[in-house]
Amino acid sequence: MNAPNESEVRSFMQYGHFDDARKEYVITTPNTPLPWINYLGSEDFFGMISNTGGGYAFYRDAKLQRLLRYRYNSVPADVGGRFYYIKERGKTAWNPAFLPTRTPLDAYECRHGLGYTTFLSEKDGLAAELTLFVPIGETCELHDLTLTNRGTLEKRVQIYGCMEWCLWNAVDDAQNYQRNLNIAESEVEPSTIYHVTEYRERRNHYAYYGVNAETSGFDTDRNTFLGHMGDWSAPRAVAEETSYASHITGWYPIACHRLDVTLAPGESVRACFVLGYGENPKDAKWDADGRVRKDTARRVLAKFADSAAVDAARAELAAYWDRLLSSYRLVSPNEKLNRMANIWHQYQCMVTFNMSRSASYYETGTGRGMGFRDSCQDLFGFVHMVPERARERIIDIASIQFADGSTYHQYQPLTKRGNADIGSGFNDDPLWLVAAAVCYIKETGDFAVLEHPTPFNNKPGSEAPLLEHLRRSVGYIRSHLGPHGLPLIGRADWNDCLNLNCFSETSGESFQTSGPSEGPVAESVFIAAMYVKYAAEYAELLEQVGYEAESVSVRLSVQEMERAVLKHGWDGAWFRRAYDAFGDPVGSKECDEGRIFIEPQGFCVMAGIGVETGEAKKALDSTREHLLGEYGVELLVPCYTRYRKELGEISSYPPGFKENGSVFCHNNPWIVCAEAVIGRGNEAFDVYKRICPAYLEDKSDVHETEPYCYSQTVTGRASGNPGHAKNSWLTGTASWSFVSLSQAILGVKPDYDGLRVEPCLPDELDEYTVERRFRGCLYRIHVKKTGEQSLTVDGKRADRIPLQDRETVTVEVTV
Ligand code: GLC
Ligand code: GLC
Repeated sequence: MNAPNESEVRSFMQYGHFDDARKEYVITTPNTPLPWINYLGSEDFFGMISNTGGGYAFYRDAKLQRLLRYRYNSVPADVGGRFYYIKERGKTAWNPAFLPTRTPLDAYECRHGLGYTTFLSEKDGLAAELTLFVPIGETCELHDLTLTNRGTLEKRVQIYGCMEWCLWNAVDDAQNYQRNLNIAESEVEPSTIYHVTEYRERRNHYAYYGVNAETSGFDTDRNTFLGHMGDWSAPRAVAEETSYASHITGWYPIACHRLDVTLAPGESVRACFVLGYGENPKDAKWDADGRVRKDTARRVLAKFADSAAVDAARAELAAYWDRLLSSYRLVSPNEKLNRMANIWHQYQCMVTFNMSRSASYYETGTGRGMGFRDSCQDLFGFVHMVPERARERIIDIASIQFADGSTYHQYQPLTKRGNADIGSGFNDDPLWLVAAAVCYIKETGDFAVLEHPTPFNNKPGSEAPLLEHLRRSVGYIRSHLGPHGLPLIGRADWNDCLNLNCFSETSGESFQTSGPSEGPVAESVFIAAMYVKYAAEYAELLEQVGYEAESVSVRLSVQEMERAVLKHGWDGAWFRRAYDAFGDPVGSKECDEGRIFIEPQGFCVMAGIGVETGEAKKALDSTREHLLGEYGVELLVPCYTRYRKELGEISSYPPGFKENGSVFCHNNPWIVCAEAVIGRGNEAFDVYKRICPAYLEDKSDVHETEPYCYSQTVTGRASGNPGHAKNSWLTGTASWSFVSLSQAILGVKPDYDGLRVEPCLPDELDEYTVERRFRGCLYRIHVKKTGEQSLTVDGKRADRIPLQDRETVTVEVTV
C-alpha cells in the first residue's frame, strides 16, 4: 500500500487487528503513531523489532554485550537494526519492513507473535515473507526470508541483508569515538561475516552474520556500502546493484551479504540469515591458525543450513509458548478478555520478567539494571509459567539485601551484584521480597526455598536461610518508624519521585540519591499499608512452618500499624499519602495541590484497612470522584504546578505527566483489586478496562502505543492533552493487571493448601471457565452467576479446592 500522509494517519482509528487464533497482532500499515515493537528471545539472546524493522539485539546484557547499533533520538525513531533490501534489476529498491527506504509497498503486513515477527509485503509482483525469531536453546536470531515472483515475467533480483554492528558496550559505542573509529575488526568467510572487534585483547566473544545460501558479494565497511554522504535509505551499493568486497579498517563495521537470484513466474527462493553470538573459553580463544575460534558459529550455521531445521525451530518456539500459556486459560464469551488473559497479559509478563526495566524503545538498555521492587512484582504475573526461574530470581534478589534488612535498590544482571551508585534507602523494597516469596510458595508449595542459604550483600560466609531474609525485611520496617508510628520513607517508596528527604536545588543532581536518605521524620502511609498486607502474609507463612510465637508477635505489630493508619493516615474522605520532613501531610485536603494520591487508596484497601469501618469504601468513592479520567485513574490531583523541593522529583514533571498526575498504569490494578476487596465488580472491571490495551485499540490514534501491551503512563487530564501513552512494554502494570484480572475479578487464587475461587464479577460477565494448572493438576473451573454461593469439586461440595493428586479435576462454582 501507499504510505498515507499525516492527515490520513490521524483519521485512522486503528492500525491493525488481533488474530487470536494465531496469537498475533497484525499491523496493516507501517505508519503507526510510534514504532510498535515486539521482543524476540526468552533466555540469553534477545532482540527487539519494530513494525518497520528497527531495533537491536544483545546477549544477556543490553549495555555490555550489544550486537546491533541503535540510534537514540533518531528521526525516524527506528533506524537501526536489521536491514533487508530487495532490488529488482532496474527498479526501485524496497524493504519488506518499509524502512529504511520508505518505498511505498503494494502490500504490507507485520505480524507480531509470541517471540517472533513476520513481515508480509509485496512490490511490483515480488512478494516477501520475512520471519525473525530466536530459536530455543540458541544464542542467535534467524531471519527467514522467502521471495516469490508473483508476476508473469522472469525477474532478476538482488537481496541485500545487512547488520550494523555495535562495538559491544553500547555506551562507549555512542561516546568514545576517538577510540572506536580505530578498533573495528571483522573476518569474512564465504556466506559468513564475523564481528571480532576487541577479540584480540580482552573479549572472548564475537558476533556473526551468515546465510544458508551462496552469496554474490559482501561488504563490511559502512561508508563504502552507503557511499559518500549516503545513508541507509539509499545505499550506493544497492543503487548500483553491486557489492564492493570492502574490508573495514576501523571506522564503522557492518555485515552485508548480497544474493543474486533469478525467479521464473511463480518461483520462490528461500534463504535463512543467522545473526549470532559466539563465545570461547578464555584460554582457548584461537584456532590452530591463530584465527578466532568459530566452533559455535559453525555449529549453528550448519544446523540451520537446512530449511527443515528452521521450520523445526519455529515449531519448537510455538510449542514452547503453548506450554507456557497452558498454565492459565480463560474461556468466556468476552473476546477481549480471553485475548488479554490467554495471550497478551502473560506474554508481557514474560517480557518484563526477562527485561526488568532495562531494554525497550524507551528504556535504553544502557542504564539501570534489575530493580529490587520491580523484579519482585514482575514475578507475580510470571510465577505460574516457569516457577523454577522465579525461585532463582528470588534468591538473586535476596542476595543483595543487607544484614539489617535494608537492601540495594538495583543489581546488574551480569554480575548479580548490588548497584552501589543508587545504593539503598528505598524503604518499600524489603516488603516486596516478602510478597514475592509468599507468592512463589503459594504457587508451588515449595516451602524448602525458605531454607535456601542466601547471602547478605553477596558476601560469602554470610549465608542465612531465605526465611531469615524475610524476617529481617519485616524487622527493618518495624524498627524504622517515624513520629506517627508510620514507616519512614527513606529516599522514596514505590513512588520513586516522592523524595521527601532530598531537597535538591542543584540541576542534574539525582532526586533519589541526594540528601540524607534516613530522614527521621518523613513517613509513608503507603509503606504502612504494604506492611499491613505483607507482614500479615508473613505471619501466615510463619504459622504454616510452625513459628507460632513469632507469628503472634508479627500480627500484633500489624494491628498496631493498622491503627496508626486509621489514626494518622486517614484524612476524612481518603487515605493520606505521607508526612513530609516537617511532619506536614502529603495527599490531604489540607494541601493546596496533591490533595489525593492513588497509591494509599489502592493499597490500604487491598490490605483490608477500613473495610469493616467504612473508610475503604469512602476512599474508593473519592478515588472515582477525583482521580478517574477516561483513560484510567490518575496518580494525584491537583497536579503540582511548581517545583517543591520538599517533595522532590514528583513536582519536577509538568502537570499530568509521569508521577505528577498521569495515569501511572502500574497502580490502576491496585484499585481493581481494592474494588474487589469491597465487592464492587462493576467498578473493578471499569478500571480494568480503562487502561487495558485491547479495549483501547480503536483509540490508537490517541493512545499511540501498541494496542497489545501496557505502557507505563498515559497523560492525565491536567496535561491538556490526555490519553497519550508513553514508555510501552516494561512496566509493573504487566504483572499487576494480570493479577487483577485472574485473581481479583475472575477470582482464582493460589493458596498454601489449594486454590480458592472468589470472583468479583461485573454485570457484563455471567459465566466463564478457567483452566488452571496448579501443582501438577489441571483444574477446570466453571463459574456461573446464579445468586447462590456454592463450590463443588468433582461433584462434592467444598469451601475451597483442596490439593489433588489427579491429573484433571472439574470444579463448579456458582456466585
Ligand atoms: C518506575 C519504576 C518503579 C516505580 C515507578 C513509580 O516504573 O521502575 O520502580 O515504582 O516508576 O515511580
Ligand atoms: C524517574 C521516573 C520514575 C522512575 C525513576 C527510576 O524518577 O520518573 O518513573 O521510576 O526515574 O529511576
